[in-house]
Amino acid sequence: MLILERNSELKIHLDRIRAESRQIGFIPTMGALHAGHISLINESKKQGLFTVCSIFVNPTQFNDKKDLEHYPRTPDQDIEMLRQSGCDALFMPSTEEIYPKEDTRIFNFGELETLLEGSHRPGHFNGVAKVVSILFDKVQPNVAFFGSKDYQQVMVIQALVKQLNLPIKIVPCSIIREPDGLAMSSRNKRLNKEEREAAKLIPLLLNESKVLFKAQKPISEIKAFIASKLAQKTIYKLEYFEICGSDDLHILTNKNEVKEGIALIACFVGKIRLIDNLILD
Ligand code: PAF
Repeated sequence: MLILERNSELKIHLDRIRAESRQIGFIPTMGALHAGHISLINESKKQGLFTVCSIFVNPTQFNDKKDLEHYPRTPDQDIEMLRQSGCDALFMPSTEEIYPKEDTRIFNFGELETLLEGSHRPGHFNGVAKVVSILFDKVQPNVAFFGSKDYQQVMVIQALVKQLNLPIKIVPCSIIREPDGLAMSSRNKRLNKEEREAAKLIPLLLNESKVLFKAQKPISEIKAFIASKLAQKTIYKLEYFEICGSDDLHILTNKNEVKEGIALIACFVGKIRLIDNLILD
């Protein structure tokens, strides 16, 4: 596996790949890799693409400085996992390579930015859009793969590609879960034993919301039920639980408003903020 740190090296190698008429699959990450990331690499390899992964902890998408400082960093382990996965190239740029000067662009994703993650993490999606547009420009992939745990992020990136008119196919991939159902996330590494045990309630509640939704329970009751379950222990602090239309994430008040609903949750377990989602029908 090639390991590249400079934009110039990346360009030389990827120009060579393009000259051989090979297609490029790209998996942008912030490192602290887990089986969820590797499933994205596997998907790209399965499609016969020259597979590039990037690891860059993007400062512009953190609205909380402490969260950025504590974001897990495990480069040696990441490199080993990528080698074993058969990834072809790893791009690990410094902050100066990505942001040689301040990026002051302001993107407009309309309602998507004001809902759910958008309202709880102001500026987050603008930072994601900055870094992803820069990485897309450097890698110029044909296909890019993203995990659906960050469902709203995938929608933002789809909107970004459309707005910038980029010839990149965005492939959302299934959430990969631990045996007890917890969605894999780099942030899980920061959970202590008690928090890790408590975290498994999140997927259980999503599953319960699905049962209730299918049974035509009013959405207000489902929301109250989830909130009350989480209120029973002080280790949880619910930020939001919403049931939305899976196509545009508008918040539903009634099941019959859409073809497909999705439940989305953000909840602190101790100090760690976890997000998850589940398609309801
Ligand atoms: O999902 C992530 O890990 C990040 O938001 C991304 C897409 C790599 C941008 O920094």
